[in-house]
Amino acid sequence: MRSELNSAPEKMPKHVAIIMDGNGRWAREKGKIRTFGHKAGVDSVRSSVAFSLKHGIQSLTLFAFSSENWGRPEEEVGVLMELFSLVLSTEVKKLHKNNVRLKVIGDLSRFDAKLVQKIKKAETLTENNTGLVLNIAANYGGRWDIINAGKIICERVQSGELQPSDITEALFDQYTSLAEQPALDLLIRTGGDHRISNFLLWQAAYAELYFTETFWPDFGEEEFQLAVQDFLDRQRRFGKTGEQVAGK
Ligand code: IPE
Ligand code: IPE
Ligand code: MG
Repeated sequence: MRSELNSAPEKMPKHVAIIMDGNGRWAREKGKIRTFGHKAGVDSVRSSVAFSLKHGIQSLTLFAFSSENWGRPEEEVGVLMELFSLVLSTEVKKLHKNNVRLKVIGDLSRFDAKLVQKIKKAETLTENNTGLVLNIAANYGGRWDIINAGKIICERVQSGELQPSDITEALFDQYTSLAEQPALDLLIRTGGDHRISNFLLWQAAYAELYFTETFWPDFGEEEFQLAVQDFLDRQRRFGKTGEQVAGK
């Protein structure tokens, strides 16, 4: 049976992540330089936050800059950093007003000190907000996230706070970037490619994957709705049989 949006709030995804891809190709198709596409992509970020707020999604995790994206031309990396800083300046107040808690996940050690300061300030301002959690993945890599958790756990074992036998999936999860947030339900990738590109490797274990050809700057609330509708029409089995899940 088809679940309509809003009619089945208990079935709505609690945690959605998006690989915001296709900015460069979107710009090229319009005869513009790639960075024009990155700038246009900011509107889609606003739309996806608005959609999440409207539909009570608890966590939205956006892939903004991967650990591999440093390999792009220096000028493009520079524009992306400036844009990140600019968006923090212009959007944080509005996010705060909407009760959004902002969190930046990734290895911040490679960012300029001023940018890190700005990130920390925004996180502190919004840390007690109880609405949507907006995670921005910047200099993020799924492998980094797993190794980082492993390192902290090793330190705790070395200091005697933890025993190797304490290490369960649930404990390991507590040391990853999205600890204490709902499990990832839906992972969307725009831009037509069917790959994870080192995004949420640990967290995507049982996420539903949704791919669309639409380039990120064209991904608005209607497109987000199509992805959620597709999610609602699926049967999540978690290893069980369809009959078991349907209770037949
Ligand atoms: C995604 O769009 C944005 C970032 C990776 C920062 P791209 O810049 O990868 O756009 P395409 O995939 O080249 O079109
Ligand atoms: C993934 O997109 C990273 C972000 C969206 C930030 P890429 O465009 O970098 O991915 P690949 O390299 O084509 O897999
Ligand atoms: Mg790309």
